[in-house]
Amino acid sequence: MLKILFIADVIGSPGREALRARLPGLKRGTGAHFTIVNAENSAGGFGVTREAAADLFASGADVLTGGNHLWDRKDSIAYIAEEPRLVRPANLPAGTPGHGTLVFRAADGTSIGVVNLLGRVFMKEADCPFRTADAAVESLRSQGVRVIVVDFHAETTAEKVAMGWHLDGRVSAVIGTHTHVQTADERVLPQGTACVSDAGMTGGFESVIGMDRGAALRRFLTLMPERLTPAEGDLRVNAVLVTVDPSTGRAAAIERIQLPHRSVSAGTVKLLTGDQPALSVRYAARAEVERLIAGGVMPTLALVSVGEDPASQIYLKKKSAACAEAGIAIRRVALAAGADTRAVVERVRALGADPDVHGILVQLPLGPQVNAQAVLESIPPARDVDGFHPENVGRLGLGLPCLMPCTPRGILELLRYHQVPLAGKHAVVLGRSPIVGRPLATLLSLKGLDCTVTIGHSASGPALRALAREADLLIAAIGRPEFVTGDWVKSGATVVDVGIHRVPDPTRRGGSRITGDVEFESVAAVAGALSPVPGGVGPMTVAMVVANTVLAAERQAGGVRV
Ligand code: GUN
Repeated sequence: MLKILFIADVIGSPGREALRARLPGLKRGTGAHFTIVNAENSAGGFGVTREAAADLFASGADVLTGGNHLWDRKDSIAYIAEEPRLVRPANLPAGTPGHGTLVFRAADGTSIGVVNLLGRVFMKEADCPFRTADAAVESLRSQGVRVIVVDFHAETTAEKVAMGWHLDGRVSAVIGTHTHVQTADERVLPQGTACVSDAGMTGGFESVIGMDRGAALRRFLTLMPERLTPAEGDLRVNAVLVTVDPSTGRAAAIERIQLPHRSVSAGTVKLLTGDQPALSVRYAARAEVERLIAGGVMPTLALVSVGEDPASQIYLKKKSAACAEAGIAIRRVALAAGADTRAVVERVRALGADPDVHGILVQLPLGPQVNAQAVLESIPPARDVDGFHPENVGRLGLGLPCLMPCTPRGILELLRYHQVPLAGKHAVVLGRSPIVGRPLATLLSLKGLDCTVTIGHSASGPALRALAREADLLIAAIGRPEFVTGDWVKSGATVVDVGIHRVPDPTRRGGSRITGDVEFESVAAVAGALSPVPGGVGPMTVAMVVANTVLAAERQAGGVRV
């Protein structure tokens, strides 16, 4: 029997990587005589290029098929016209470059006709795919070709199922592509045509149909244009294997294939990424802001800084942008580098007395000439969106409603979002700062979260490593680049990296890279879950500035929420 392997839509370089690694073994394992690869998304997620096609052929493809995105790269049209192993949609106007139907020879010598068709429901206009199929089948049959495979690139299940029935007994297989989610409806119809509504996709499954899920979700949530790039995480190959009697062209069997390649970019560790939960927090805040504005309250955050500390400038920019995105008004108060305690306190008090200001955030550090504690204590606790005022610190310790510091609150939300279990677990917090380590340790030990908590710090000495190895949940907030290495981590532990540092790296363009308190590679090899830097805790901290400002505004506007 003839075995035909059909590889579902290959999405960008991650999809090609998965195919390069898995196709040779898949062909050996299935005994495939002929391999068709849908390549219309194989170059950067949109279209095909000579280079992407060469990669697919080198991986073991015999023929490539297309779809509606085939023409996305204008500079590849000449290539599509001349490539004898590429089949473009057949139901396009006469004169369209390339071929819609071609005949190939499989490894066992059988002639195989390959037809590519576009659906018309919810797609751009094309000629009738059913009538085009009729003509293609007639032409192939007149050439003595009995085995015919149709790649039907269409949006709706109904149109694809209808095509199966339309061609039953006249072609060997009708394989749906385009929607990228493999359907479980594979079957051989009564007259011998194998069908599946969609073969799925080959690429990153931590995604929205192969594309970066953060960007895809933002497009839905904001309705703003957003560039989509192929997803990298959880690479898999999707395919179908069709068994055909070469003497009749009738299919005997169709089998779906889902082959994992690699689970995430760093081995098997689960990445606790912050972009998604941060987006959800900011999105929820935006809805609250709209409610407040409708009620006549314009939520307003004052951002105060002293001097030009470069890291502080970056943080302030991010916080401003996130607040602005949520509809919060920003009052930016940038004091000169030499401003003393009295000058800063006076400005903060004035903001505290202004009824139009709901939140005040004083970006630290303030410089050696300023008593930071005095400044923080001059913020009215109800407006203290950083949760640094002693009243908020005390209320947090008592488990009372308060404004919580943004990084600890963000870490808790990150762990909740990624469903990391906490109750009864041993959390080891490395670092005792009042901004992260101390409040986080307090929160984790509160009723409801129920961790057993140990705080380790710079004075713990060599015991620190042994303490860290005890942790089910290890929080690295020690402020030293790549301080925590794999040998500090218990196998399967959850590790949250709070640090952010720029370190020299001659292998990078620009000569440096961003890293955390954790050495990513060695810890990823041991941990069960790990927050990346950048893209882990950082976006959560920023999102919580937004959430705390909304909370402060609501409470001041009449105690909407406690
Ligand atoms: N400097 C470093 N981290 C922080 C923070 O969380 N809040 C403020 N205000 N300043 C910082």
